[in-house]
Amino acid sequence: MSQSKKDLRLRGSPSSKTEGATSKNEVDEYIERAKERLSSIPAKLMVMSGKGGVGKTFISVSLAQYLRKMGYRVALYDADETGASVPFFMGERKGEIFMDEETGELIPLLTDDGIQVMSIEPLLTDKSTPLIWQGSLRTKFILQTLAMTKWDDPHIMIIDLPPGTGDETITIAQYVPPLRFSLIVASPGKLANGIVRKAINFSKRLEVPIIGLVENMSYYVCPDGTKLSILGESIADSMAKDFEIEVLARIPLDESIRRAHDEGIPIYDIARGTNIDRELRGLAEKIASRVNLPKI
Ligand SMILES: Nc1ncnc2c1ncn2[C@@H]1O[C@H](COP(=O)(O)OP(=O)(O)OP(=O)(O)O)[C@@H](O)[C@H]1O
Ligand SMILES: [Mg+2]
Repeated sequence: MSQSKKDLRLRGSPSSKTEGATSKNEVDEYIERAKERLSSIPAKLMVMSGKGGVGKTFISVSLAQYLRKMGYRVALYDADETGASVPFFMGERKGEIFMDEETGELIPLLTDDGIQVMSIEPLLTDKSTPLIWQGSLRTKFILQTLAMTKWDDPHIMIIDLPPGTGDETITIAQYVPPLRFSLIVASPGKLANGIVRKAINFSKRLEVPIIGLVENMSYYVCPDGTKLSILGESIADSMAKDFEIEVLARIPLDESIRRAHDEGIPIYDIARGTNIDRELRGLAEKIASRVNLPKI
């Protein structure tokens, strides 16, 4: 199979008014092909929050790593185009995405631990140039990559969504076919409370079943063992009650998590034997059972 990367490079902004323009037929074809391709993946999990910086990417990447460790084939799709960070969190800053020249399919980046990753980040020519794309271009990129990516028969696809309920999130919720689910990530505090509720209602309105909620940065444990609610009061229980959803994990605010990301080390290596390790493993096991992954 011949693979080439030369056609894949993206500039930060369109060079002319017409670049990126797409005919309706072309979009319809992407939608059909994306649906067809994704239908063969047994479970699609949208990791969302509405709120920025609460740890959506951390949870997406950690879930991919733990599920992979349990023996599952995992696809990780980075739907955050302007703030793509999945490859960074996985230490794959130099990884590449190829195109099969015969079929035109995109071959995802494969991490050392065998996770298949599709992200805009490896396709950008200059990592420090901001992506200046309006909604239609962003939607097109999502549809195009979903239509063209050749995954290697994953058991599950994890989709890391950007903050908010904008173009990327709407496109994914609209066109990713069943079986798809959402996992809500929240942090404590009043601000998160308001914004995360909107994301839950978004998921309900677009008829994406909610698999549960993770409270990240839930508490901080001082060296003397005292637990502090640094970001404010926990909102997990009231959300669970109001929306009848389950709290699947509560993860502390801990320096080791930030360090794992900065150094590109899998979280299970850095947090082995800790509460973080137990919560994340438990989360992965619950997800596997809720989406009916086969026993491995
Ligand atoms: N429990 C935690 N303890 C300490 N640091 C954390 C924790 N969770 C996430 N972080 C750190 O917080 C930062 C934000 O996390 P992350 O990028 O996963 O959030 P996000 O919700 O995906 O953000 P965005 O809305 O920009 O996509 C990262 O530097 C990450 O390493
Ligand atoms: Mg993110």
